Amino acid sequence: MTRPDTPPTVAAPADLPFSPAAERNAPHILRVLQGWLPPAAEVLEIASGTGQHAQHFAQAQPQWRWWPTEAQAAALPVLQARCAGLANVQAAQVLDVVAPAWPVPAGAFDAVVVANLLHISPWPATAAFFRGAAQALRPGGCVAVYGPFVVPGEPLVPSNAAFDADLRARDARWGLRSLAEVQAVALAVGLRLADRCDMPANNLLLRWVAA
Ligand SMILES: C[S@@+](CC[C@H](N)C(=O)[O-])C[C@H]1O[C@@H](n2cnc3c(N)ncnc32)[C@H](O)[C@@H]1O
Repeated sequence: MTRPDTPPTVAAPADLPFSPAAERNAPHILRVLQGWLPPAAEVLEIASGTGQHAQHFAQAQPQWRWWPTEAQAAALPVLQARCAGLANVQAAQVLDVVAPAWPVPAGAFDAVVVANLLHISPWPATAAFFRGAAQALRPGGCVAVYGPFVVPGEPLVPSNAAFDADLRARDARWGLRSLAEVQAVALAVGLRLADRCDMPANNLLLRWVAA
């Protein structure tokens, strides 16, 4: 039975690029974000990819205004098409985290959310991400980062070790990041790690707040 508070489902065109992994992890990420973010929030998403997370989260939380972004302009039509029926999704914008200035208002967001970017970009993108996120956040806001990490003192499970090796073979600048090193670059821009949620498939969802 449909619960009375279940928002209407917005169908996206069937032929859009589709990520099975994004579809699988979306409900798990949403459940954690619902505990971390206020019921009404301005949310900047970095590296929105296929837009499945934007669609899923914005649909579930009509009072979150979702700002999807992508590094490549070519990705925007897919984002636009997937979120077309959702009034609480802003027009998708080009945002490359390493750009000197992000094309979004400073100090305006309750949350900056990113999934699966830090290990699929050169290391300087991680520092650039936190620098931009710190500027985008309003006081009391948080940064949520989802993905696999190497956690010093904890064994790296074989699937994550294999994923790391595969990433590095594809691009020597990529690879799973050390959580300690990520914490250091975040702290350098005034963000401290406040929460860690262990997620399915050996991923983490991490929340940073003002130090
Ligand atoms: C593995 S996909 C993740 C997409 C989506 N967040 C998800 O979890 O399904 C990585 C995404 O990062 C984007 N990306 C790569 N480098 C970037 C950069 N410098 N700034 C912003 N996005 C970037 C890519 O275009 C790609 O969409």
